[in-house]
Amino acid sequence: MQAKDLKTPYFMINEEKLIANLEKAKQLKEISGVKLVLALKCFSTWGVFDLIKPYLDGTTSSGPYEVKLGHETFGGETHAYSVGYSEDDVKEVADICDKMIFNSQSQLAAYRHLVEEKASIGLRLNPGVSYAGQDLANPARQYSRLGVQYDHIKPEVFESLDGVMFHMNCENKDVDAFIRLLEAISNQFGEYLDKLDWVSLGGGVFFTWPGYDIEKLGAALKAFSQKHKVQLYLEPGEAIITKTTDLVVTVVDIVENEKKTAIVDSATEAHRLDTLIYNEPASIEQASDSGEHEYVIGSCSCLAGDQFCVANFEQPLKIGQRLNIMDSAGYTMVKLNWFNGLKMPSIYCQRATGNIELLNEFAYEDFKRSLSQWSVS
Ligand SMILES: Cc1ncc(COP(=O)(O)O)c(C=O)c1O
Repeated sequence: MQAKDLKTPYFMINEEKLIANLEKAKQLKEISGVKLVLALKCFSTWGVFDLIKPYLDGTTSSGPYEVKLGHETFGGETHAYSVGYSEDDVKEVADICDKMIFNSQSQLAAYRHLVEEKASIGLRLNPGVSYAGQDLANPARQYSRLGVQYDHIKPEVFESLDGVMFHMNCENKDVDAFIRLLEAISNQFGEYLDKLDWVSLGGGVFFTWPGYDIEKLGAALKAFSQKHKVQLYLEPGEAIITKTTDLVVTVVDIVENEKKTAIVDSATEAHRLDTLIYNEPASIEQASDSGEHEYVIGSCSCLAGDQFCVANFEQPLKIGQRLNIMDSAGYTMVKLNWFNGLKMPSIYCQRATGNIELLNEFAYEDFKRSLSQWSVS
């Protein structure tokens, strides 16, 4: 199978790039003793889990199906967290998770009896401080529903808790900023942490970013776990799969309305949703800042403002030309949807040997079935 023969749109996960990130994860674990669980909300393409498993300790989740998927396809430690469990969710998940993390003291009180004896029990705390570029993704934003605020804690809950989870970072590439958060947590919550077996510091720590000081992060994590005598966890998502995957698309038309727009056979709204939600333009491999030919890379959805980015090219774009939309693994495949009845990208993995393996492909039947299986008569 050769990339040029594959029908676009498709995602191509690159094994070599994935392993390079995972080697950094391994280094961090060795330095710090931290355990790492993959955040399935970010990346759940289980077809490549055999590549990831040797490096990480398990998975963490945000909903009941992710717990089941982690348990079935990854193994190791399965952490179950949800912003809001129903009683049925808790019953379903209790037998297959190793840790159950409640978001509130009310959920803990309502359901802990269903989990005791089966899994280690945790509670999410909200440290009130965070590192996040956008308010939408800031767990410590005003009126946040994510975790228990310090001044709402009922100290007696710590008598029967095994651990806690904090999540307060989003794409944090600044190790010193993370260490400041760690110190704030230690100072404010230390007396509680000392009673626990484990503490998860959530995701959003971008330790695979080029130049990130992994040694410094590792030393700080080790010191924290020794001070409070806890097993530390991180829940990386984006850090594990960053820069590993392209979304490959084809230019299907070029239109002009003051600016030239190259319309491609994909849409951010359906295939790369965070481009739209966070208003963060994508990057195109074939683009060149010095190129004099500027195009809006427009999607083929009906949403007026749906575009991947504005990019410059050395040569004019041509209909039929392929473009690689880079860094398209995190929070993409997990958010794919059928809006506009667009063709869903296939998913491939390019192995270190150069071989390309198909992980998933979709057909009209998948679209149809996602809408109804039965009709009224
Ligand atoms: C509780 C929790 N853990 C882990 C993550 C993963 O974060 P990231 O993909 O930025 O590492 C998130 C992301 O929202 C989260 O909410």
